[in-house]
Amino acid sequence: MKNSFCHTIGIQYPIILGGMARVGTAPLAAAVSNAGGLGLLGAATWSASELKEQIHRTRELTNKVFGVNIPVRSKRADDIVSTVIKEQLTVVSTSAGDPRVYTAQLKENGIFVMHVVPNVEFAVKADNSGVDAVIAEGVESGGVTSRDEITTFVLVPRVVDAVSCPVIAAGGIGDGRGLAAALALGAVAVQMGTVFLAAEECEVSREFKEMLVLAKETDTTLLRSEKGAVRTIADAFYQEAKNTVSKNQPQSNTTFSTRGCGQVAGLIRDIRPVSVLVQEMIRDANKILPKIRENLPGVEER
Ligand SMILES: Cc1cc2nc3c(=O)[nH]c(=O)nc-3n(C[C@H](O)[C@H](O)[C@H](O)COP(=O)(O)O)c2cc1C
Repeated sequence: MKNSFCHTIGIQYPIILGGMARVGTAPLAAAVSNAGGLGLLGAATWSASELKEQIHRTRELTNKVFGVNIPVRSKRADDIVSTVIKEQLTVVSTSAGDPRVYTAQLKENGIFVMHVVPNVEFAVKADNSGVDAVIAEGVESGGVTSRDEITTFVLVPRVVDAVSCPVIAAGGIGDGRGLAAALALGAVAVQMGTVFLAAEECEVSREFKEMLVLAKETDTTLLRSEKGAVRTIADAFYQEAKNTVSKNQPQSNTTFSTRGCGQVAGLIRDIRPVSVLVQEMIRDANKILPKIRENLPGVEER
């Protein structure tokens, strides 16, 4: 069976590493691309030269396709866009801003543009501005998210019905069940962040990864501000987990390099290489499909 989205991008599996500011670095992006998915570098906080370095580092680690996330409203966005074009990347995600700002320029340079949206209104705007795909991200997701608080399960089919371009599901997806469900909702692929934070190749601290393994789905909180909302590990859990993890590693130099994290942390059970995670997801999603058939009574002919 051919997934035309994968075919267009040049990847094997419909699994995307979402761009993650500070933590979506070359080793993680390359590992996801090497595993058959699409790795996106999280460029939000990098200068043009830092991004260039990360792109070169990624190219040393993989010969597969990878891309960059461009946060549109960031003051660095112009620099990110010109670096992406100069470096001849072929795919980007744009987020946090108006998709009309860069889409035409990126597409003129042959770049596939996927825009992250939190609701149907923005999805339609993105579709009308000519993006190649939208990434519908539910409120379960880690990092900056929307104040609309629409869950992935509702958002994805609503967006699928409202736009003409392909839809990618993000937020709360962490295993083969999530992948199968996203495809059932009409998505062509999934984008994940939180689950990849705990992968071996992610450059966050070991302590933070162990904290993710300990976290339950109730251990995150949505911090709201005038500008939007950010899902992070809840403070009470953070303080408690910090003590637990530090107790087990008295020598360690605890850094806890990020606190952005989605509810799907509740599904993380261990720290694994990306390739194992991706293979397991694909294998499990394939196993689930016949089971769905078994559990679904056929329509009675009347
Ligand atoms: C620590 C962290 C940082 C993130 N930074 C960004 C970012 O810079 N730009 C962006 O578009 N999305 C960002 N995201 C969202 C991810 O790209 C992805 O869409 C999201 O994590 C998917 O939901 P999940 O966390 O439930 O897997 C971030 C997520 C996390 C967990």
